[in-house]
Parts: sequence; structure tokens; C-alpha cells
Amino acid sequence: MKILAINGSHRKGNTEAILKKILDGAAGNGARIELINLYDKNVEACKACMGCENTGTCKIQDEFPQIFEKMVHADVLVLGSPNYFNNVSGLMKNFIDRMNAHWQDTRLESKKVVLVMPGGQGKESREKGMSAFEQFPKICKMKVVERLSPQVDLPKEAKNDEKLMAKCLELGKKIVLS
Ligand SMILES: Cc1cc2nc3c(=O)[nH]c(=O)nc-3n(C[C@H](O)[C@H](O)[C@H](O)COP(=O)(O)O)c2cc1C
Repeated sequence: MKILAINGSHRKGNTEAILKKILDGAAGNGARIELINLYDKNVEACKACMGCENTGTCKIQDEFPQIFEKMVHADVLVLGSPNYFNNVSGLMKNFIDRMNAHWQDTRLESKKVVLVMPGGQGKESREKGMSAFEQFPKICKMKVVERLSPQVDLPKEAKNDEKLMAKCLELGKKIVLS
């Protein structure tokens, strides 16, 4: 089983710590794992040229196509973004917009997705952020199997929260078995 995590945080912080721990759990149960940090990748913004509507492909030459191929071949996607204004981060939104050529790709249908969205504010904001994040897998007909939106704010908060890290490890183990 191949588990691919994509991190849309702009810093080495909570989202990354949570994704790494989920992947540790999955690897412990025999999965092949990979973490892609979007802050390390050259993924340009969609230019809205709409060329993909005629050709089925995007003319921008950057690292997006390689990431998309990995998505297609993963059994489970773990998508992570910090909550920014009850929504995804700019990096994650930029990435999602580049899916314009691919959101109807039938290879994505029913693919399992775990959504991770830490936020510093209360439950209402974190729930609103998560429901915004959910739109992307839903539009692609992927299947959201788990959601995690813990309240953490300072960059090392998640990593130092033993209870949260234990929960993430268990979540990683569970997604391999389910
Ligand atoms: C621009 C910006 C907007 C934010 N907006 C929200 C918000 O609406 N709701 C919330 O719960 N947290 C909000 N936060 C806090 C982050 O979601 C929180 O610090 C999160 O843990 C960051 O994850 P990271 O360390 O992976 O980047 C915001 C942070 C920034 C920088």
C-alpha cells in the first residue's frame, strides 16, 4: 500500500508534524510512504488560460505533473493544510487550482483521503475550515475517510503534544488496515 501525504503549510510546523506522525504509523504497518512539502516544490498558479479544456493537459511546465502522477498511484492521500481564515492555505489552494485539468480523472474516483487541518482558533473556525477543505476531494469524487482538525497554533505545539502525536500514529496504522 502506498500512502502519499501533501503538506500545504508554508512553514515547518504543526501540519508537517502531524503528517509525519501519520506516515510513521502507516509505515509501521507496512505501507510505503512519501511526504511532499509544497513549500519545497515549484507549483505555479493556474493562469486560467482554459487550454486544458481543449487539450486535457496543462501547458505550465513545473513540478505539478509529477505530484499528480504520485496522487494517481497512491492508495491513500493524506492532505494537510493549516486553517487560514476558515479555509486552506494559499499554497494548498494554488495546488488545488492546478487540478483543473484533472478533477474529472476517473482514476481519482473513490480514492481514500485523510484531511488534516490544524487551526489556532476555536471549534467553529476549525469546522468551517474543514468543510471548505472537503470540497476539493468531493469535487474529484474521492472518499474522505478521516478528518483531523486539532487546536494547535505555535509551530511546535503539535509536535510537543504527546496525546495528539499518539492519536496521529494510531490514525496512520488504522488507514493501512481499513
Ligand atoms: C494567515 C493566517 C490565518 C489564520 N487563520 C486562522 C483561522 O481562521 N482559524 C484558525 O483556527 N486558525 C487560523 N490561523 C492559525 C493557524 O491555522 C495555526 O497556527 C496552525 O496551527 C498553523 O499550522 P502550521 O504550523 O502547519 O502552519 C491562521 C494563521 C495564519 C498565519
